[in-house]
Amino acid sequence: MAKTWTAREIRESYLQFFTERQHRRVPSSPIVPLDDPTLLFTSAGMVQFKPLYRATGELEYRRATSVQKCFRATDLEQVGRTPRHLCFFEMLGNFSFGDYFKKEAIAWAWEYVTEVLRIDLDRLWVTVHLGDDEAEAIWRDEVGVIPERIVRLGDDDNFWGPAGTSGACGPSSEIFWDLGPGFGCGAADCKPGCECDRFQEIWNLVFPQFDQAEDGTRTPLPRPGIDTGMGLERLAMLLQGTDSVFEIDGFGPIRDALAEMVEFDVSDAEQQLSVNVILEHARAVTMLFNEGVYPGNEGRSYVARRILRRAVRRGRLLGLHEPFLYRLTGVAVDTLADAYPELVESRERIAKVCRAEETRFLETLETGMRRFDEVVERTRAEGGTEIAGGDVFTLYDTFGFPRDMTAEMAREKGMTLDEAGFESAMKEQQERSRASARFEQEKDDTPWEWLGDEDAPHSEYLGYDHLHLDVRPVARRRKGTDWEILLDRTPFYAEGGGQVADRGRLVAEDSVLEIVDVRRKGALHVHTVSVAEGAEPTGQLYRASVDAVARRSTERNHTATHLLHAALRRVLGTHVTQQGSLVAPDRLRFDFSHFSPLTPAQIQAVEEDVNRAVLADYPVAKEVTAMEEARSSGAIAMFGEKYGDRVRQVYVMDEDASDVTRELCGGCHVRRTGEIGLFRIVAEESVAAGVRRVEAATGWNALHHAQREDDLLHRIGETVKAGSLTDVEARVRALADEHDRLKRELAKLQSATLQQAAGELSDRARDVEGVAFVAEEIPADGVDGLREAADKLRDRMKSGAGVLAARSGDKASFLAFVTDDLVKERGLRADVLVREVAKVAGGGGGGRPNLATAGAKQPETIGEALAAAEAILRDQLSARA
Ligand code: SER
Repeated sequence: MAKTWTAREIRESYLQFFTERQHRRVPSSPIVPLDDPTLLFTSAGMVQFKPLYRATGELEYRRATSVQKCFRATDLEQVGRTPRHLCFFEMLGNFSFGDYFKKEAIAWAWEYVTEVLRIDLDRLWVTVHLGDDEAEAIWRDEVGVIPERIVRLGDDDNFWGPAGTSGACGPSSEIFWDLGPGFGCGAADCKPGCECDRFQEIWNLVFPQFDQAEDGTRTPLPRPGIDTGMGLERLAMLLQGTDSVFEIDGFGPIRDALAEMVEFDVSDAEQQLSVNVILEHARAVTMLFNEGVYPGNEGRSYVARRILRRAVRRGRLLGLHEPFLYRLTGVAVDTLADAYPELVESRERIAKVCRAEETRFLETLETGMRRFDEVVERTRAEGGTEIAGGDVFTLYDTFGFPRDMTAEMAREKGMTLDEAGFESAMKEQQERSRASARFEQEKDDTPWEWLGDEDAPHSEYLGYDHLHLDVRPVARRRKGTDWEILLDRTPFYAEGGGQVADRGRLVAEDSVLEIVDVRRKGALHVHTVSVAEGAEPTGQLYRASVDAVARRSTERNHTATHLLHAALRRVLGTHVTQQGSLVAPDRLRFDFSHFSPLTPAQIQAVEEDVNRAVLADYPVAKEVTAMEEARSSGAIAMFGEKYGDRVRQVYVMDEDASDVTRELCGGCHVRRTGEIGLFRIVAEESVAAGVRRVEAATGWNALHHAQREDDLLHRIGETVKAGSLTDVEARVRALADEHDRLKRELAKLQSATLQQAAGELSDRARDVEGVAFVAEEIPADGVDGLREAADKLRDRMKSGAGVLAARSGDKASFLAFVTDDLVKERGLRADVLVREVAKVAGGGGGGRPNLATAGAKQPETIGEALAAAEAILRDQLSARA
């Protein structure tokens, strides 16, 4: 092994090796799986290909190779403590979807390892599954591995998958690197599968043969495939001969940057651990923030928070008390940018998110740590080794310590956490915050009064296709002055998926019921109605009519929301994920993860993207399918939402049958995109750190918005007396210039006037025991005007003191000055002077000995106050004398 491989060279040589063998080079998919709500993060190279393993039809390609960004946060506490664990890592892989199988996969893997990487044969071992004679025969007879170096292992070691809760899986075969007896347990039969560190797995060759369903049942795949994975960092560690992954070339620049911020000594195990954690987590948060996974309290966001806070605490142990991690994210970007160029333009955003979260956590970290130390001491004093759940909860709730961080800190002190106590403290708090909600709930629980057969089916929703229907109430109950009713079938949409409920009415011969609200409660479709005319609801037939104008507008907005979501991902990037949405008749609002404000050019690009689909008048398809099928067709699902087995997809395809948008959605949509008419973004703003909000209008609302803007422009035109609309801008600019010029001129005039006034004032100065003194009211503009006048007056007088006053409206302003010589020689003080004078006018103030100001609310007493000024000055002079 003459050559030292950089991470970059490994990536390139791997991809090249397999593209030469007719593999499609596929870019990494995001760490946040696009369409797989069962997976928190992309944990292996095969994740993006899951649907291809079970595909039966034509495929664009049947061989692929990739370097995949992967993320695993399950062993977070191990990260930094072992030489190999990482949260973020890259996986080299080659894949076959019903194309080649074991024979080729094994032969190529061996060829790459021995002939490209040129790893010494004595270092290499392989394992196969206990039941896999076929793989063993290939290794032995075709590749020529000696039988003593082939180890058979069971499901724990040699069966892989599925990723998440369903998908392709199968037996596997692994290639191991022998570090040598010096690293092992010394046992005579030490070999791969042994607990010790001597044998390191480098490559996992999975032979997917089964498709596992959510319930764990396995069916054979239409054709078996190949899924191999080789961790880039671990391989680099072995090839570069370093002791841990944290010393490979990829981490070098981050380590150097850290060393510039703080001194550390890696011969100290604690400090080594801190450095490892910081290096790893700097990269990990960079990759998460890049994809819009920002620190928060749920799901993926909480993983981001835990990782970042763990690094910040480790930084503090090294002596870093200011935000620092954000500076390392920039270096992490540099080290990964040639593999993932999209990082470059996210550099600022990533650093900003990081810094904000670091700052937030640092606010409570110090006090939290003190609290933790106290808790540890108290627990020990009481002879315990378990930290009470209540304390863990306080650290979590008040000081922002993730529970696993507290657990790790406790373990470092040889202590454990009372997990159950924490859970119950957590629950208690949730109960408290739910108390009011529960009160609401209880009010809800009035029993239904059934109007006919209690077991008859009801609540069937037919509103996708019907706005008018004959319906019959099957149950009712009072709700204040209104009623809640259940209908046998209904055209009224119940609030859900961001879309507001339909409005409308139910009409019978003797009664008109107005729909006030519609909500789903479990399986019930509950209509709140108010009696507009005639009798209360009964079990008779009613003609139900949805307010069609409102509903059509809502449909336009709903389809436009999907197009907007897709457009944002195309224009801004796939880190854009939905954070909330509101679809109403008059507007649509869409919240999504993105850090910076949209530029005017981006807003226009998004508008154009949506309007392109509108003008093309594509059909909007709605289709109910199995969840699996929806997922494999790439429909966007919201992470954390529960979907049933059957889901409804709403999608729009372009002329080439590519998806313009495809989402899982139960809402109401237009039939063709052309119905939307026009799409305009009317507002863009921030709603939380890393979350932007766009409001938009469609159809009539978009037209009305444009008309309102037109009216505004016309009114401005009239005000500025523009001859035509095209002149408005020039007129406004001319007026602004004129305004600036006038302001400058006015200032000049005022200054000249003050100059003159100052001359007159100093001429009128009287002599008070050898001090030239002025006390007058002048027509100045507030304190600022007085200041300017005083400056001029002081210049004129050279030596002297004065009190100036001005009135504006119902307020009086005072200013006193004393030239520096008099402060020094006669002990005069402007601050005392102004305070005493203002007191006469019922006000107060202060300042420095040479200049001070005051305000008062009784301008009518200015004369009296100034009259008193001379006496106050004399007092000061005599007090000194
Ligand atoms: N999916 C397998 C793994 O992650 C091989 O790529 O190890």
